[in-house]
Amino acid sequence: MCKKVALLGAAGGIGQSLALLLKLNLPAKSELSLYDISPVTPGIAVDLSHIPTDVKVTGFAGEDPTDALKDADVVVISAGVARKPGMTRADLFNTNATIVYNLVEKAAKVCPKACIAIITNPVNTIIPIAAEVLKKAGVYDKNKLFGVTTLDVIRAHTFVAEAKNVNVKYVRVPVIGGHSGTTILPLLSQATVNGLKLEFTQEQIEQLTHRIQNAGTEVVEAKAGGGSATLSMAQAGAEFALGLVRGLVGEDVIRYAYVDNTNGETSPAFFAYPIRLGAEGLKEVLPIGKLSDFEKKQVEDLIPILNEEIELGQKFNKDA
Ligand SMILES: NC(=O)c1ccc[n+]([C@@H]2O[C@H](COP(=O)([O-])OP(=O)(O)OC[C@H]3O[C@@H](n4cnc5c(N)ncnc54)[C@H](O)[C@@H]3O)[C@@H](O)[C@H]2O)c1
Repeated sequence: MCKKVALLGAAGGIGQSLALLLKLNLPAKSELSLYDISPVTPGIAVDLSHIPTDVKVTGFAGEDPTDALKDADVVVISAGVARKPGMTRADLFNTNATIVYNLVEKAAKVCPKACIAIITNPVNTIIPIAAEVLKKAGVYDKNKLFGVTTLDVIRAHTFVAEAKNVNVKYVRVPVIGGHSGTTILPLLSQATVNGLKLEFTQEQIEQLTHRIQNAGTEVVEAKAGGGSATLSMAQAGAEFALGLVRGLVGEDVIRYAYVDNTNGETSPAFFAYPIRLGAEGLKEVLPIGKLSDFEKKQVEDLIPILNEEIELGQKFNKDA
């Protein structure tokens, strides 16, 4: 029942904090392997290994992630470059697409049955690229590839709790669509606290939707050139990766993620949904429920944007 998580990009702003959260929270007897091109990575593993939890940590640096990927059940990728002020997630495309392409190609060879959760932006485009790489390698399983959108969900919980002055612990807000600008769609008409529906004015709905969609930029600007969200993203990445592991060991877990949408409720080839996780990764895509007229219009508007971002990934040629 012991599971191994490989974290690629482990020396980065997200990677280091995420590694710490995984070391603290993975089930006993799990393994955590860290990989980054940065030479400091084995040292990060040694540092973490002094924390008294029953999770074995190893660290690898250099050009080849093979050792880190061996026997991995879950591969989490946060390798890449982060946004600076004035940049959109799409501006990261060429650099990050090539990095993720190469890492997924390796994972397809070394641990073809692993679940792969990708944090690296632009998520909307990078996940279709990863799917193509896995298809080319003949190991694509649409239930094992996830774009991590958990940060949008935890931000929605935080901002709604603040706006309604309720305990954030009991707030739930579905967030669907994608992970860039207006493709991030919080379903405030379904927001609850303690299972009870929360009511909003139209002005509040528009303000909260806008804030959730632009929360990443809020951090990028506040860090003034120092990068994008790392600590909140690490918490979100841990929630998702731990959910995947709990699913693999047989627990019933529900999360949100950007996944292959063949047979889905809406047209884009990839879409963020509530999903049930299980022993083989994604077990079931859950219904998105009844949308308000405002949300229906937002879905209509985001579909062409998402389609374009997905197509860019599907057509990506690393050697062009
Ligand atoms: N999904 C989300 O919600 C979300 C939120 C915030 C940031 N992000 C994205 O996460 C990514 C990482 O952000 P960060 O702040 O940690 O950046 P960072 O620059 O601090 O860290 C990135 C790490 O990747 C490493 N790296 C680069 N190329 C590599 C390779 N080929 N193999 C292994 N490691 C490699 C770098 O050495 C660095 O340590 C960015 O693309 C960022 O846009 C996603």
